[in-house]
Amino acid sequence: MVRGSTLKPYQSRKVSRLEGRLRPPGDKSISHRALMLGGLAVGETTVRGLLEGEDVLHTAAAMRLLGATVARDAGGVWKISGVGVGGLGEPADVIDLGNSGTSARLLSGLLATSGFVSFVTGDDSLRRRPMRRVTEPLSLFGAQFLTRSGLRLPMAVIGTSQPMPVRYVTPVPSAQVKSAVLLAGLNTMGETTVVEREATRDHSEIMLAHFGASLRREETEDGTAITIVGQPDLVGRDIEVPGDPSSAAFPVVAACIAGASGLTVEHVGVNPLRTGLYTTLAEMGARIEWRNERVVGGEKVADLHVVGGGELRGVEVPAERAPSMIDEYPVLAVAAACARGTTIMRGLAELKVKESDRLAAIAAGLVANGIDVEIGDDSLTVHGRGGIVPGGGAVATHMDHRIAMSFLVLGMAARQPVTVDDIAMVDTSFPGFVDLMNGLGASIAPAGA
Ligand code: S3P
Repeated sequence: MVRGSTLKPYQSRKVSRLEGRLRPPGDKSISHRALMLGGLAVGETTVRGLLEGEDVLHTAAAMRLLGATVARDAGGVWKISGVGVGGLGEPADVIDLGNSGTSARLLSGLLATSGFVSFVTGDDSLRRRPMRRVTEPLSLFGAQFLTRSGLRLPMAVIGTSQPMPVRYVTPVPSAQVKSAVLLAGLNTMGETTVVEREATRDHSEIMLAHFGASLRREETEDGTAITIVGQPDLVGRDIEVPGDPSSAAFPVVAACIAGASGLTVEHVGVNPLRTGLYTTLAEMGARIEWRNERVVGGEKVADLHVVGGGELRGVEVPAERAPSMIDEYPVLAVAAACARGTTIMRGLAELKVKESDRLAAIAAGLVANGIDVEIGDDSLTVHGRGGIVPGGGAVATHMDHRIAMSFLVLGMAARQPVTVDDIAMVDTSFPGFVDLMNGLGASIAPAGA
């Protein structure tokens, strides 16, 4: 990675409490899907609460290159005029998706069944991530892919104008793979089915139905089969994006470990396929109350009230829970470091192919801060310190926003400040994270300042 001159190292110091209310940024998964489906619908879609992070802005730019009109008005409402299913046009340039794996996987689905050639790339991190998981099912529709060695980006997508409907059983629990297949099925005559053994986030299914697509779910011996009827008329809709539970996780864990905190995190999406962290924190003894539960655009939302200062205890986190908290393990590991006793997390194989090898990055970061860990093939054991941790370590973030934010949270409960080598990537999912946390009482500043 040659980004030396632009690295932005930051340091986080111990605080005695966090206090206040905040609304986390919009849900990243839902924001990507709103832009893609809005771009395929006929008529206008309005999106309130869109995550204006770099990952989502890359999806917006990609949809523009493919022919949709995507604009933000002065009040922060995004308006999209779509091209209709089958109406995407050949992009005049390479589609650069930055750090965003979700954009790359989901757009591949749309491109696979569009009858033109497109070229997709991304940053150093995204160009390392495996694409076979989508090229394999999408080839079954008749699309072709030319990739770099190891089936990695940059990649040319030769879309098919006469796609064959597909039935595909996903070999890994991945909402991105499921969504890529369903999105490819949109422009495919007939019925496309994707089968998953373990339930993964269902934002694509909820939003496809919201835009007027016809889907059905059936239990089969291979798992849950989700079928989409191809070539529907999608109609522009109004969407309100809930706050991202994966982003809310950082202030929530911070409030659990940083002294006698009292924090309310408003308007957090609590879709049951996303709340594994919150279940786990409750088992650890955290005091998190869900208030004002409601449903917004088919998605469950609540305000989370966190009371800190209590002791957390180590727990065993079962492998089956992994899909519902896949992005939350870095910050759970931080909570585990502050808990009394040992926490064992299983079923973590997918962590190795995220924005970084998160299993290795979490373990290295904890060890650098005086915490004992054991790392297995797909498991992580953290020996909690029962309160304040030693800290004082320098953490390599490997271009991974969630590693950066997690270790800044660790610093809030560490005797010596914790340094992360770069916070630039935080903007991919949580723009304004540092200022927002400092406004609640955190002490995060450029290293050496
Ligand atoms: C996402 C699914 C998850 C998650 C990612 C967003 C999505 O990836 O890690 O941040 O929006 O579908 P996988 O489905 O590959 O596990």
